[in-house]
Amino acid sequence: MSKIGTEGNPLRVAIIGSGPSGFYAAQDLQKQKDLVVEIDMYERLPTPFGLVRGGVAPDHPKIKSVTKVYSRIAQHDSFRFFGNVEFGTDIKRADLQKYYHAVIYAVGSSSDKRLNILGEDLQGSYPATEFVGWYNAHPDYRDLQFDLDAEAIAVIGVGNVAMDVTRIMARSQAELDKTDIAHYAQAALRHSNIKRIYVLGRRGPAQAAFTNPEIKELGEMDEADIIVAPKEVDLDEHSKEYLTSDRVVSKDVKNVEILREYANRPPSGKPKQIIMRFLVSPVEIIGSDKVEAIKIVKNELFVNERGVIRPRATDEYETIPVQMVFRSVGYRGVPLPDVPFYDRWGTIPNNEGRVLTEHETGEQVVGDYVVGWIKRGPSGVIGTNKPDSVETVKRLLEDVETGKLWSPEAAQREAVENFLKAKNINAISFADWQIIDEMEVQLGAAEGRPRKKFTEVQAMLEALSEHKRSLIATD
Ligand SMILES: Cc1cc2nc3c(=O)[nH]c(=O)nc-3n(C[C@H](O)[C@H](O)[C@H](O)COP(=O)(O)OP(=O)(O)OC[C@H]3O[C@@H](n4cnc5c(N)ncnc54)[C@H](O)[C@@H]3O)c2cc1C
Ligand SMILES: NC(=O)c1ccc[n+]([C@@H]2O[C@H](COP(=O)([O-])OP(=O)(O)OC[C@H]3O[C@@H](n4cnc5c(N)ncnc54)[C@H](OP(=O)(O)O)[C@@H]3O)[C@@H](O)[C@H]2O)c1
Repeated sequence: MSKIGTEGNPLRVAIIGSGPSGFYAAQDLQKQKDLVVEIDMYERLPTPFGLVRGGVAPDHPKIKSVTKVYSRIAQHDSFRFFGNVEFGTDIKRADLQKYYHAVIYAVGSSSDKRLNILGEDLQGSYPATEFVGWYNAHPDYRDLQFDLDAEAIAVIGVGNVAMDVTRIMARSQAELDKTDIAHYAQAALRHSNIKRIYVLGRRGPAQAAFTNPEIKELGEMDEADIIVAPKEVDLDEHSKEYLTSDRVVSKDVKNVEILREYANRPPSGKPKQIIMRFLVSPVEIIGSDKVEAIKIVKNELFVNERGVIRPRATDEYETIPVQMVFRSVGYRGVPLPDVPFYDRWGTIPNNEGRVLTEHETGEQVVGDYVVGWIKRGPSGVIGTNKPDSVETVKRLLEDVETGKLWSPEAAQREAVENFLKAKNINAISFADWQIIDEMEVQLGAAEGRPRKKFTEVQAMLEALSEHKRSLIATD
C-alpha cells in the first residue's frame, strides 16, 4: 500500500459536526499541497454551519456571511457533506474505523452550565441555550414555550450570549421584521409584555465578558432605554488598579467608558428598560410553582492567589420580582458514545487536538482528534476556531508521517454511502442543502426577510423531496 495521503492511498478523514471548527479543519486539510485528502463531514441536522445558523443572533446578519467561506470549502472535490446523520446513533466510531484513517470531532457544546441554586428548575427559569435555539429555529427547540407575558425578566451573566438574549427580547417588531428569526418566535415576541430586563453580572463593569459593539448596541435600541445607576460604575480599588495597569485589555477600558456614558444618560421614556446590575449573584429563584422573584446577594471583589479578580458574597441580599429568568452563564459539551469525556470541563480530553484517554495524564487515542468548543470549552468567537483547528490538523499530519492512524478496511469513497443506504439513512448532500437554502431565501423574500427558516426536520426533508420530484416531472 502506498503512503497515506497519496493518489493511491488518499488520507480519509471524517469530521463530525459542521460548525466553524469543522469547516476550518476541512479547509486546512485542503490547503496541504502535497496531500491527497478525502473529507466526509457528518452533521446530525440536515442543515450545516452549527451555531452560525443556530446561535448567532438573527439581528446580526453580517456575521452569518462567513457561511460563504464554508460553502466554498464544501464545493471542493475532496469534500462531501452527509447531513441528517448523527454520530453515535446513525454511524458509530467502530463504523468510521472501517472507512477512514482518522476522525475529527467538531460537535461544539450544546448543553448549558448549571447555577446549582434553589429554584433553578422552576417553570419560567430557562437556560439561554434553549431560548437561543428557539428563536433561531433549531428543530430541537422549536416546540418550547416561553412565558412572554412576563413583565420583568432577569438575565444572569454578562457575556455576549446574555447580550443577544437581552437584545432579542428588547427589539421592536420593526427591528425583528428585517431578520431571519423563527416565524413562531417573531409572532410570540410581538405579543410579549416585557417591560424590564435585569441583566445581572457577578463581577464589576471592568470584568464584564461582553465586547464593546454588543454593549453599545444595547444603548441604541428603538424601544428600550438602558439604565445604569451611577453607583454601578463606581469602581472598587482592584478594578481601578487593573484599569491603569499595563495588564489592562482595551476592551475592558472601553466597556467601562460606555457604561459610564449610560450612567449619565437619563431614560428617554421608551416602553422597555434594560437595567444593568453588577456585583450581584443569584442565590435563589423564588416561586411556588413558577418564577415569581430572584434573590440576589451583593458581591465584593478580591484578588485570588493567581492574581484574578473574583467575586465574594457579602451578607447583603435583595429580592427582585421577575416572572422569567434566563441563565446565560455558559454552554457545556455533552459526551459522545465511545469517546473519552472530561466531565469537569465538559470537553473531550486532548493534547493540542489529539484525543487522550483521560484529561492531561491519559494516552493518545489513535485516530481521534478534536477541534472547536468541544476541544477547548465554550469560549471564543467564530474566528478563534480557525487557529484552533489548524493546530489539530498539524498534529494529525504529524501522525500521517508516522502512520499512527486507523487502517480502514473499505477505503473506497462509495463504501460509506452504501453503509448509510443499507441502514436506510436519508443523508443530505451539500447540493441538497443548497436547495433547502434557496427555498428558505425565497420564502423569506416573499415577506421582505433574508430567509424564512424551516423549523422541522421532517418538513425540510419533505420540501426537498417535493422539489426534486418537480424537477424530474419538468425534465
Ligand atoms: C448564542 C451564540 C451566539 C454567538 N454569536 C457569535 C457571533 O455573533 N460572532 C462570533 O464570532 N461568534 C459567535 N458565537 C461563537 C461561535 O458561534 C462559536 O465560536 C462557534 O460556533 C463554535 O464552533 P464549533 O464548530 O466548535 O461548534 P458549533 O458551531 O456548535 O458546531 C457543532 C456542530 O456539530 C453538530 N453535532 C453535534 N453533535 C453531533 C453528532 N453527534 N453528530 C453529528 N453532528 C453533531 C451540531 O449540530 C453543530 O452543527 C456565538 C455563540 C453562541 C452560543
Ligand atoms: N457577538 C458575538 O461576537 C458573540 C455573541 C455570542 C457569543 N459569543 C461568544 O461565545 C462565547 C460564549 O459566550 P457566553 O456569553 O455563553 O459565555 P461567556 O463569555 O463565558 O460569559 C458567561 C457569563 O456568565 C457569567 N457566569 C458564569 N458562571 C456564573 C455563575 N455561577 N453565576 C453568575 N454568573 C456566572 C460569567 O461571569 P464571570 O466573567 O464572572 O465568570 C460571564 O459574565 C464567548 O466567547 C462569546 O464572546 C460572541
